[in-house]
Amino acid sequence: MCGIIGYTGRRRALPILLEGLRRLEYRGYDSAGVALVSDHKVEVIKAAGRIYVLEQQIDPHMPQTHGLGHTRWATHGAPTDINAHPHTDAENRIAIIHNGIIENNRVLRTYLEQLGATFRSETDTEILAQLIAHFYEGDLEHAVRRALHDVTGTYGIAVVCADEPGVIVAARKGSPLIVGVGKGEHLLASDAAAILAHTTQVVYLDDGEMARITPDELRMTTLDAIPVARGAEEVEWSLEQIELSGYDHFMQKEIFEQPDSLENCLRGRLDLNEGAVRLGGLVDCTRELTRAKRIVMTGCGTAWHAALVGEYLFEELVRIPTETEYASEFRYRNPIVDDGTVVIAVSQSGETADTLAALREAKQRGALTLGVVNVVGSTIARESDEGVFLHVGPEIGVASTKAFTGQVAVLAMIACYLGRRKHLSPSAALQFMDALAQIPEQMRRLLDRADEAETIAHHFHDRENWLYLGRGYNYPVALEGALKIKEIAYIHAEGLPAAEMKHGPIALITKGMPVVVIATAGVQYEKILSNISEVRSRGGSVVAIATEGDSDIKQLADHVLYVPDTVEPLQPLLTSLPLQLIAYHAAVQRGCNVDKPRNLAKSVTVE
Ligand code: F6R
Repeated sequence: MCGIIGYTGRRRALPILLEGLRRLEYRGYDSAGVALVSDHKVEVIKAAGRIYVLEQQIDPHMPQTHGLGHTRWATHGAPTDINAHPHTDAENRIAIIHNGIIENNRVLRTYLEQLGATFRSETDTEILAQLIAHFYEGDLEHAVRRALHDVTGTYGIAVVCADEPGVIVAARKGSPLIVGVGKGEHLLASDAAAILAHTTQVVYLDDGEMARITPDELRMTTLDAIPVARGAEEVEWSLEQIELSGYDHFMQKEIFEQPDSLENCLRGRLDLNEGAVRLGGLVDCTRELTRAKRIVMTGCGTAWHAALVGEYLFEELVRIPTETEYASEFRYRNPIVDDGTVVIAVSQSGETADTLAALREAKQRGALTLGVVNVVGSTIARESDEGVFLHVGPEIGVASTKAFTGQVAVLAMIACYLGRRKHLSPSAALQFMDALAQIPEQMRRLLDRADEAETIAHHFHDRENWLYLGRGYNYPVALEGALKIKEIAYIHAEGLPAAEMKHGPIALITKGMPVVVIATAGVQYEKILSNISEVRSRGGSVVAIATEGDSDIKQLADHVLYVPDTVEPLQPLLTSLPLQLIAYHAAVQRGCNVDKPRNLAKSVTVE
């Protein structure tokens, strides 16, 4: 959740650090700070609030070529100037930035207090700064290593010392860190977006590893000082992908990117001549996968909704019992993982703490694990046995949009890949693949009419309670539509399987309450029409999402948004788009900060 950047080289560090912090802004934060090192002195400037508040307090000409920057999301202590990072030891010789939680912070604090230490902030990070100083005898790397042996909890840290010019020591356990390799310089970051402007060559740190960087050298070791040899990898993302490029918000840009992002996701994977899905990441485990007795999909939030679509897809196409579990529940409830259980972790960032913990739990119990992840090099991608990347490009907006459609598309491809090896006939597989290949073009057509969703948002944005109803494959889409409008427009909404409405929630329907009903063509179409009538007869205002050509529905619904026709299992790839647009425009009209919704951060790396 917090953002980390470090620089050591020959250029001025400050502009690089501030630019990196701005690029990390999308992750959400409540304070920011920098530490700059030169002339045996560490200078720390930090402030609660946005980056511009910090900038107002800094001399922009500071000449140092070595420093750290941090955006903080408060966990221990309120978001104040004092609690902002970097933190220093009592003598201001050592400065540290930290992402994570030091769980035994009270024990460490008491220990240091007994030795005479006093603390300026309420943070666990300041305790770590003082602990490192306590062990410092002229070798920062050694002091950090020694201190971390006494620490339990999670961390991605970067540390500098007044007496070691050009040196940054970093360590990771549970929070992502990468080293960027430049010419005569090294950078350190929690997220590739922070350093992409300077280098695309990165080395990923694994849990339990440390790095010592200087302008000309990167040295990696384990926490126990065993050398680690790992080469740099190329980051595929471009600078353009992480910029607004004329859009007002990243969420808007990412909604409109979906035809292209989905094309990238499908590229080279659908062989329509041979009628085969090609997924390189599954080749080594195909035998084991087809023999699986049970599949568990896991994830959080939007990724969980995509996984739920995946459950329906797998049961229909692969015919292996499949269930979807919230990662936070799976990890703690002593799950049954038999021989033949496959666990699929779905995550955009690949860093979500609960999803990662669920993956580790599953692995430890002997399951074959697959990652369906967007961020290459992320922890879930690295720790799962096999997997398939989304390839939808960086998702910066806090509300997940293009990652959702990418996740559904990847799960659809895996289902078809395995289905063909079980009972799916070549013609049925080909028909499915053909429909999938058409989705990007259908999305383009749908987005050409985006103003219709904007009109709906305009009409209803002042209503505080909404319902979203769907059946079958569109039930998870109803959940997703409700989540989108909750998180960015701060409207209370519930997503339900349409038939459940009668079992209680129908009592909520009052005159004019917006009820979004996904009523596309399919086996349950007649049933959903009955649900629409029930809502109307209680005075609710129905916004139907319907299949192009369905003119009858206009008689029943108050408003209709049309989506192109496709096979039922792939409808979520189209029906989710109008719901994203409604949420986006409702948020804009309510004056909400679309890309930085309150209380939310992009990547939830703590529990
Ligand atoms: C909602 C949203 C979140 C994420 C969830 C999982 O728009 O973005 O619900 O889907 O925090 O994140 P990842 O996919 O990174 O594991």
